[in-house]
Amino acid sequence: MKTWTKSSWRDKPRVQMPVYEDAAALTEVESKLSKYPPLVFAGEARRLKKALGAASRGEAFLLQGGDCAESFDQFSADAIRDTFKVMLQMAMVLTFGAKVPVVKVGRMAGQFAKPRSAPTEVVDGVELPSYRGDIINDLGFTAASRIPDPQRMLQAYTQAAATLNLLRAFSTGGYADVHEVHRWTLGFTEADEASRFRDMANRISDTLDFIKAAGVNSDREHTLRMVDFYTSHEALLLEYEEALTRVDSTSGKWLAGSGHMVWIGDRTRQPDGAHVEFCRGVLNPIGLKCGPSMEVDDLKRLLATLNPENEPGRLTLIARFGAGKVGEHLPKLIKAVKEEGANVLWTCDAMHGNTVKSASGYKTRPFDNVLREVKEFFAVHSAEGTVPGGVHFEMTGLDVTECTGGVVAVTDENLSDRYHTACDPRLNASQSLELAFLVAEELTKLRAERVAEAV
Ligand code: PEP
Ligand code: CO
Repeated sequence: MKTWTKSSWRDKPRVQMPVYEDAAALTEVESKLSKYPPLVFAGEARRLKKALGAASRGEAFLLQGGDCAESFDQFSADAIRDTFKVMLQMAMVLTFGAKVPVVKVGRMAGQFAKPRSAPTEVVDGVELPSYRGDIINDLGFTAASRIPDPQRMLQAYTQAAATLNLLRAFSTGGYADVHEVHRWTLGFTEADEASRFRDMANRISDTLDFIKAAGVNSDREHTLRMVDFYTSHEALLLEYEEALTRVDSTSGKWLAGSGHMVWIGDRTRQPDGAHVEFCRGVLNPIGLKCGPSMEVDDLKRLLATLNPENEPGRLTLIARFGAGKVGEHLPKLIKAVKEEGANVLWTCDAMHGNTVKSASGYKTRPFDNVLREVKEFFAVHSAEGTVPGGVHFEMTGLDVTECTGGVVAVTDENLSDRYHTACDPRLNASQSLELAFLVAEELTKLRAERVAEAV
């Protein structure tokens, strides 16, 4: 294999990337960005890798979630806080189910570029280039809006830096106190619709009371007030990624400084393509989306290319087949991983295989299908004796109406009420927390199975 450099992706075939009309403007932005500070540090990426390695062995569980596409227009401290808050609530409920630490990774502070199923979009007979995320072009349906503009990378960087700054403050400044997090959750389970989760919530309350009574205080109490929260996004816009790639002075290796974890999308994972080339050379934990078209031979090549040293936590395989299709696709990929003796973390993106068009015309995802895919994912791993190590959701802490279903039901007719996503439909705060309770119930069952097998 040829030597990797942060620019070696430029010699490979690229897909899903914009063509910038003004080459000089692009170069100027790249040169500016390459002088800006990285957003994350190598030590943090290594710590996340270690935590993901633990998840791959069943000693931790990954919760990855956030917007499909972060937006410039909807950028606000409240939106960041609310998503952070609901992720902490979900993590606490999942910790209770899994009885292992939950690793929290936001699709935040960099999730701006989007792959699209078609290069153009037609509205009322007018055809324009597709929207590709705020870091590339604008959602507005005019010819001018859809022209890729390199200046947008600078705004994305600024927004990512401000988001990360707030997340770092929330994680360590007392906002993440477990007692507070649980109090918010009790607010949810007090509602009549959520009464079936009250029992689990009460058991969490008892546990917290016990910890307090047993005298976990001072130093220890400190750890209950802080969390590790990491960021992630799809490494799609490689000019942006390259400009933020820096050498780590401790190891001499290269770090994608744009986020702690980056992933390769289901549409850009060609083994000889530009995106795989870029990701193979950075030290960060890497995610790889595995959809129904993933072939066993391709997966084997990707395992070798992306994790030649077979390092635990380096590679997270994010299965996204759709409810009803997991049994058809996942077992053969698990078998391929076993044959290669590869260390991977398996997680389930229960969103991207479950997108449907509602009768009212909105893109949506039925809550029940999201849950069903997670259950199928767990069942296949249970049958294969492998570890279902995490879940991946498109979600927000805001009260949007984008996915249908849930106990506080969103119906097809409600979708238009608060449909705000710039791209795919997200679970709202209540749907996200409900899902966490349901997944926690599944995790409890899995643990019971394991215990029964062990005796
Ligand atoms: C996404 O995660 O938003 C996405 C586009 O996913 P996928 O590559 O799995 O389609
Ligand atoms: Co999406």
